[in-house]
Amino acid sequence: TAKLNSVAKAAGKLYLGSATDNPELTDQPYVAILSDNEQFGQITPGNSMKWDATEPEQGVFTFTQGDVIADLAKTNGQLLRGHNCVWYNQLPSWVSSGNFNVSELTSIVENHCNAWDVINEAFNDDGTWRSDVFYDTLGEAFVPAALNAARTADPSTKLYINDYNIEGPGAKATALTNLVQSLQSSNVPIDGIGVQGHLIVGSIPDMKTQLAAFASLGVEVAITELDIRMTLPSTDALLQQQKTNYQTVIEACQSVAGCIGITVWDYTDKYSWVPSTFSGQGAACPWDENLVQKPAFDGIVAGL
Ligand code: XIL
Repeated sequence: TAKLNSVAKAAGKLYLGSATDNPELTDQPYVAILSDNEQFGQITPGNSMKWDATEPEQGVFTFTQGDVIADLAKTNGQLLRGHNCVWYNQLPSWVSSGNFNVSELTSIVENHCNAWDVINEAFNDDGTWRSDVFYDTLGEAFVPAALNAARTADPSTKLYINDYNIEGPGAKATALTNLVQSLQSSNVPIDGIGVQGHLIVGSIPDMKTQLAAFASLGVEVAITELDIRMTLPSTDALLQQQKTNYQTVIEACQSVAGCIGITVWDYTDKYSWVPSTFSGQGAACPWDENLVQKPAFDGIVAGL
């Protein structure tokens, strides 16, 4: 039967990948599917490279858990997406405390971004900047500080800005477009836009238009965190609609040469973040809780 990364590569994409997380790696049947590089050509750590995991105390870096994912990718011959460097969530309290002045917090960001999804979720849905310790202290300057530091640390790694609710045209996608253009005109390194893709069955935005618009800025585009959730319980009708929705999303990436890859935000409902985050919703992934492929799997294949 078809395997996702093989089909994606044959269709001209760089990879089709999955998120994963350290606690899941004791589940042997789960790991066997995850590690099959014909199924998944790329992995993203769901939590273990976030700020609270990598710099829990100022200047004290621990990459033990993140390295487990990096090593797994290497062993499996898979690409790795570093996720993430600057995000308002999952910050240790020493960062979110707001106890730093401009030059202190700038050094803290630069020191931490010696890392990938460099900027995560910087905007509100209306396109204004999100109020967090970075923007409130540094204004927009935290973005070039982080990107420049990441480029210096790792000249060959692609640097992305990643966000949600930018899948279709709207105020937030426009804000991100303007930011990328302004970074480009001031020679700040920016290689890609990550479109998260946490979507809802039955309401898929016009991704084809937006992915093409992002790619026309001259940056890579990737769908970085795809899942398509439904109100539980799942029914055959919802699962069929979900299949169609997955196909539509994949076709949108497929129709844009600059959309280089797709990552599902874990491949199985068994480890999806959705039920614990969106109450009453779930069944968002292409494999079910028993690691059995759902119609959504066939939707992905059909879209490539
Ligand atoms: C989620 C993880 O999957 C969960 O395990 C964690 O509890 C919260 O974060 N956007 C992102 C991801 O960029 O980092 C988030 O991951 C999902 C939303």
